Amino acid sequence: MLLKIQETADFLLQRIPSKPKTGIILGTGLGTLVTQITDKTEIPYEIIPNFPVSTVEGHSGKLIFGKLGDVDVLAMQGRFHYYEGYDMKAVTFPVRVMKALGIETLLVSNASGGVNPDFEIGDLMIITDHINLFPEHPLRGKNFNELGTRFPDMSEAYSKELIAKAKKIAAKNNIKVVEGVYVGTTGPTFETPAEYRYFRAIGADAVGMSTVPEVIVANHAGLKCFGISIITDLGVPGKIVEVSHEEVQEIGNSVQPLMTLIMKELIH
Ligand code: HPA
Repeated sequence: MLLKIQETADFLLQRIPSKPKTGIILGTGLGTLVTQITDKTEIPYEIIPNFPVSTVEGHSGKLIFGKLGDVDVLAMQGRFHYYEGYDMKAVTFPVRVMKALGIETLLVSNASGGVNPDFEIGDLMIITDHINLFPEHPLRGKNFNELGTRFPDMSEAYSKELIAKAKKIAAKNNIKVVEGVYVGTTGPTFETPAEYRYFRAIGADAVGMSTVPEVIVANHAGLKCFGISIITDLGVPGKIVEVSHEEVQEIGNSVQPLMTLIMKELIH
């Protein structure tokens, strides 16, 4: 694993003009942020050694180096989901590579179903914490001490400092944000009404099919994390309607500019 990470990092280092300290993983259809990146170097996943290839609809699958405002960033447009069949080592491999490239802060975005009854469709939820319900843990197996400790602390998986800063940015720009706990589950089914109730009962505010593995590995690697969930549908009793991938993407599209603004200011 260590050799593969280094091989991939070396490949990328030969192709990028500078070493960014900020990594960004963009969720389902959430590519608007990329349009704000200037001086772009785009590298499709297909040509990156050891990278899995993204298959799901709405994911174009490339790494984008460039500037967001005047800050160097490395963005992943399209991520690898467990439901696509990748194992957790593959899902989180890009985070290992980011660390090897010198990334110190990881921003993540996703689409999710709100289970907090106070939430509305289109809300931006700052992720304050998560619950891991994936059946496979990304750190299971031999621990490489070079990458991180065997038993990583997760008491502040999402940086309190970045959360506070994001809330200030949102307030200043009149953007409504909510805060909450994200539960990560495998999918690819959306939830039954009983499952939505269960997620609410165990302390979640939103449910989705990603993010948790990457944030676990980022914490293992000592990266500071920040995440935003776009609430694209509601798993709230009385408000549950049929959900489709297309609708999730549509809602995601409509609020992406606000999320982009928050993330852009956050890294300054
Ligand atoms: N459940 C799980 N994942 C999701 C949802 C949902 O309701 N909406 C968007 N991603």
